[in-house]
Amino acid sequence: MKAAAAASKEKPGDPGTPLTVPQLIERILSKVGPDLAADAALRQELKRRRSLAPEAQAHVSQSIFRHFRWLGWLNPESPVEMRIAQAHTLADQFAANPASISDEELIARAIPAWTREVLNVDAAWVRTLQREPKLWVRVRQDHEPALITRFAEGDLGALTPGPLPQSFTYGGTVDLFRLKEFQAGQFEIQDVASQAVGHLCDPRPGELWWDTCAGEGGKTLHLADYMGGRGLIYATDRADWRLERLRERAGRAECFNYRATRWDGGERPPTASQFDGILVDAPCSGLGTWGRNPHARWTTTATDVAELAAVQHSMLHNVAPSVKLGGRLVFAVCTLTRAETTDIANAFAAEHPDFEPVLLQNPFTPDVAPTSNQLTLWPQQTGGNGMFVAAWRRIRAAMVEPKA
Ligand SMILES: C[S@@+](CC[C@H](N)C(=O)[O-])C[C@H]1O[C@@H](n2cnc3c(N)ncnc32)[C@H](O)[C@@H]1O
Repeated sequence: MKAAAAASKEKPGDPGTPLTVPQLIERILSKVGPDLAADAALRQELKRRRSLAPEAQAHVSQSIFRHFRWLGWLNPESPVEMRIAQAHTLADQFAANPASISDEELIARAIPAWTREVLNVDAAWVRTLQREPKLWVRVRQDHEPALITRFAEGDLGALTPGPLPQSFTYGGTVDLFRLKEFQAGQFEIQDVASQAVGHLCDPRPGELWWDTCAGEGGKTLHLADYMGGRGLIYATDRADWRLERLRERAGRAECFNYRATRWDGGERPPTASQFDGILVDAPCSGLGTWGRNPHARWTTTATDVAELAAVQHSMLHNVAPSVKLGGRLVFAVCTLTRAETTDIANAFAAEHPDFEPVLLQNPFTPDVAPTSNQLTLWPQQTGGNGMFVAAWRRIRAAMVEPKA
């Protein structure tokens, strides 16, 4: 096999034990578990073997992801090599002829049974989970024409325009993180559904925003682009290491109109000022990312859904007083369970008469008039992750609890 031969390119000086490609796949699978996600194990092992040929790296990654994507069809008693071969056969057959597997079989095997209790499972959604996910990038406006030319002329693989402004799919095999254009912050790797959240926030230059769960800053940077360097974004998260990555990314993007600071979801905001807009891109069960991250299908539980819904409910309640009169509150989660989407939005509406719904224009169907402040973006409609967004505007000053 071409990829197996490439593994022998590991140099004796490599820190990892020289392994053949099948051995490396087996090693990665043996490390994966409830405490180590497949993508993290893959990154760890590939990082130790930087000299592995790019095509061998790609084969290892594809094998790991396909293993978990097709896990419901594999016999756990079979040797790893046999399971990997079967996963590749299933993936190739399905790609060539999606009708070769019935809706019923897909629903029964591609997702855990509890999923059917927490959302209305649509076969079209499950079909998206069995395809190889697209790689989406957001090209920053000022760099768009030059970058398209660079990709076209530099033999890097095509950037194909997507449905949203500045969105593109990448069809090549180059490691985009290593490109000097990426290092210079000319584009970001960001799923199209995440890009939709930035569009729906639509902040204006000069405004004051709070990105409460900013993580590594994917949406912070998008909001900052909208604001054109004018105004300020408080970017908070409870994970300091994520904020550190955010600072690095912001540095690359030459984004300076932000303040990164810790916030743990509690009642105390990062500043006493009230905000023009608050984005709560909340921690969630992540079912919307199961196409890209198939291992998570087998580690996420119904208990996670219930616990995360409680966190989302309390976060929205805690940040609501920090929205100024006329300001907007946007709730986003990359999941599709009722408990973390419509239930949370409906509960917030019922508990907060000081907010009114803001109709959301689906950016993927700009010709269809909006009818609701709740928007579910399904992968089968967008080609990206699943995402839920809801938005409100404050119409009355916050109610002050009378002191006892
Ligand atoms: C969906 S991710 C955010 C992704 C990020 N907005 C982006 O676009 O790249 C959710 C984030 O919530 C953070 N988080 C989880 N629990 C939290 C809590 N109690 N308080 C604050 N942040 C929390 C996680 O560290 C994670 O970064």
